Amino acid sequence: MFITFEGIEGSGKSTQLEACSKKFKACNIPYLITKEPGGTDLGQMIRQWLLNPDTSFHHNYTELLLFIADRLEHVETIIKPALQKGKVVLCDRYKDSTIAYQLAGRQLDSSMIHMLNNLTDLEPNVTLLFDCSIDVGLKRAKSRAKLDRFEDEDLQFHHHVYQAYQRLAKNNPNRFHIIKADDSIGNVQRQMFEVLKPYIKQLSL
Ligand code: TYD
Repeated sequence: MFITFEGIEGSGKSTQLEACSKKFKACNIPYLITKEPGGTDLGQMIRQWLLNPDTSFHHNYTELLLFIADRLEHVETIIKPALQKGKVVLCDRYKDSTIAYQLAGRQLDSSMIHMLNNLTDLEPNVTLLFDCSIDVGLKRAKSRAKLDRFEDEDLQFHHHVYQAYQRLAKNNPNRFHIIKADDSIGNVQRQMFEVLKPYIKQLSL
């Protein structure tokens, strides 16, 4: 089973992914935690370039191609082998991030993005969308550390990303579960476990 965690900056998904893994551990469900970008050694290097606020790319598609390169290596060397071993893969961001950030945020060509996203046919079984308002998310991100290259984008960019996630959830109702993430960590966690309950039950059998 492949579960992805998605949301805007500061939506709290990484904290909830950690809580989810603890639950899986307690239930003796084998799992692997991973993330994009940066799930492989190569991905870690790509991640540094992508997130560094001092990076400037000179062609519109360089950023997109780096995310795709990160993903292809990640899927082949980390995600697929873990799934083949029967592990549940918990992944912080995946293809939906490319739709939200590069298609909607950067306004790159949709057919190009879909073609590149389809270079791997692996799709998540479940996607948890941590639905947080931009205000709350950016405040959280700002209180954490120096802003990265994406957090530092203008408000319009964040609006586009937010709206794209709403559209993705609406268009993929079987895969997406929306979790209201403006709330306290505990309340968000409760909602997440409620959504995951049937899957945890099935996986614990
Ligand atoms: P990270 O710190 O992992 O994200 P966050 O803490 O916000 O979850 O940084 C990853 C950044 O990369 C995030 O701003 C979203 C962006 N991103 C894309 O623009 N496209 C993609 O395809 C992926 C996977 C991430």
